[in-house]
Amino acid sequence: MQKVKAEPIDPSKLTLKAGQGQNLHDHNRGKYWHIHLGDVRVGKIYIDFLENEVLGNHPSIDIFINKEYQGRHIGRYAYNMACEQSGLNRVYMHTRKSNIASIRAAEEAGFKEVVDKVFRQVVMVWEK
Ligand SMILES: CC(C)(COP(=O)(O)OP(=O)(O)OC[C@H]1O[C@@H](n2cnc3c(N)ncnc32)[C@H](O)[C@@H]1OP(=O)(O)O)[C@@H](O)C(=O)NCCC(=O)NCCS
Repeated sequence: MQKVKAEPIDPSKLTLKAGQGQNLHDHNRGKYWHIHLGDVRVGKIYIDFLENEVLGNHPSIDIFINKEYQGRHIGRYAYNMACEQSGLNRVYMHTRKSNIASIRAAEEAGFKEVVDKVFRQVVMVWEK
């Protein structure tokens, strides 16, 4: 039987709820939210501060959507909402070149690729 593509979600039903008990590198500045679709908790999104030789200390976003909710456009809205709610002017995203879903979702959320030959992964940036 052919797999039916899941319907995109209604973005007005998506909310971010700030998480408690953060497990982040920089406890003072890192942020963490649960992603809710209506009443259902469908994933998590983090902005943590990481250090590397090109970007120095920089905010980096990471997201995990529960498997059964992937591919329904939650990623693109959640990336954008977390960046907007973070109060930061610039947020980076690092991912493997093979993670097409993550790259596509970030593009739709307004991230642009940062090109630097030193990077082994894809690096993208969202700017307010
Ligand atoms: C990566 C992730 C956040 C993306 O969120 P999502 O809600 O599933 O993504 P979206 O539905 O917004 O967009 C995914 C897009 O990529 C496309 N896509 C997914 N897998 C693909 C593949 N292997 N090849 C080509 N396109 C692909 C989808 O078709 C969709 O595009 P569309 O515009 O045609 O609908 C989510 O799948 C996830 O949590 N994955 C596991 C954890 C992870 O990888 N986190 C990111 C670490 S940086």
